[in-house]
Amino acid sequence: MAAITRFGILGCGNIARIFSADLKRLPSAALYACGSRSLEKALAFKEKEGAEKAYGSYEELVNDPDVDVVYIASPHSHHSEHTLLALEAGKHVLCEKPVAVNLHEARLMAEKAREKNLFLMEAMWMRFLPVINKVEKWIEEGLIGDVLRLTADLGFYFPFDPASRLYDPDLAGGALLDVGVYPLHLAALFLGTDPVDMKVQSCMSRTGVDEQTVLTLKYARGSLAVLSCAINCNTHCETRIDGTRGTVLMKEFWKASEATLMIPGSEPVKYSARPGYDYQAGEVIRCLAAGRTESRIMPLDESLAVMKMVDEAREQVGLKYKNDNF
Ligand SMILES: NC(=O)c1ccc[n+]([C@@H]2O[C@H](COP(=O)([O-])OP(=O)(O)OC[C@H]3O[C@@H](n4cnc5c(N)ncnc54)[C@H](OP(=O)(O)O)[C@@H]3O)[C@@H](O)[C@H]2O)c1
Repeated sequence: MAAITRFGILGCGNIARIFSADLKRLPSAALYACGSRSLEKALAFKEKEGAEKAYGSYEELVNDPDVDVVYIASPHSHHSEHTLLALEAGKHVLCEKPVAVNLHEARLMAEKAREKNLFLMEAMWMRFLPVINKVEKWIEEGLIGDVLRLTADLGFYFPFDPASRLYDPDLAGGALLDVGVYPLHLAALFLGTDPVDMKVQSCMSRTGVDEQTVLTLKYARGSLAVLSCAINCNTHCETRIDGTRGTVLMKEFWKASEATLMIPGSEPVKYSARPGYDYQAGEVIRCLAAGRTESRIMPLDESLAVMKMVDEAREQVGLKYKNDNF
């Protein structure tokens, strides 16, 4: 690997712009190239974000020999297709969340990366935030005792628009896949990936995708998670993690900038730090430098386990996408 890791951005949409801006914080990363289905759009992105190369097709982007890592920023419906395209071209991949639409697709992606000995990671940026890492430490140190209950909620009001990515079933729209994966990943981090039971309720939009979903998960060691997500209303967007000895609170946990540790009889302890998309890119660079093809912080098997839970949740509420026709 070169001393500077050159990123190629696949899909010049909303998150691609935000990620590209944060990538500039990393001296060991370069926003090298961008690829769009439209050359005009790619050129405008290159100009605005300061990339060196712009391509009018994803094929040209992934075949540029100077691209080290392709960042997949297309809608979830296309994560699998575009990740496989990049892996086939011999590129390492950082793929936006959710890693895929279903477990079948996620497995194909993981198998291809492992077969080709290339790096692949879901861009679950929450896992790399300093505040989340601090909470992991508090819990590992036993400061709140055994974790018995985790509640996490993420809901935004997006006006109903059948043409938007969020409400379009062909682009795998809906709350569970778009925002629900954050509470699910948080529960996976603190309670594990093997709930013994899960109950799910959803309300569907007129386009047939879930506009809000609530999940309760039960774990073998006597813990419960209560998770919720929405794209049709602004909700409280907080997490509360209750243990036998104390509690951790975080507002807006998926982009956490502060956590509070509360232990009865002691003053609350606060920890604050800047959130950002650069931390996950830093992990990609560290893994490549160490010759690792998977992150230990966001392992592929954990992305697959979350995808399995999403599949089960969708099965319970009868939420199907065309990506499920394999
Ligand atoms: N980590 C986060 O905080 C975060 C935040 C928002 C979104 N995301 C994830 O990032 C992905 C993209 O979300 P976004 O909000 O950036 O979406 P977006 O603004 O719609 O951008 C997606 C881009 O994908 C490309 N694309 C390829 N095939 C497409 C198709 N058939 N229809 C529409 N666009 C297509 C387009 O780029 P070209 O036209 O240039 O080819 C488009 O601009 C989603 O999977 C989402 O879950 C993550």
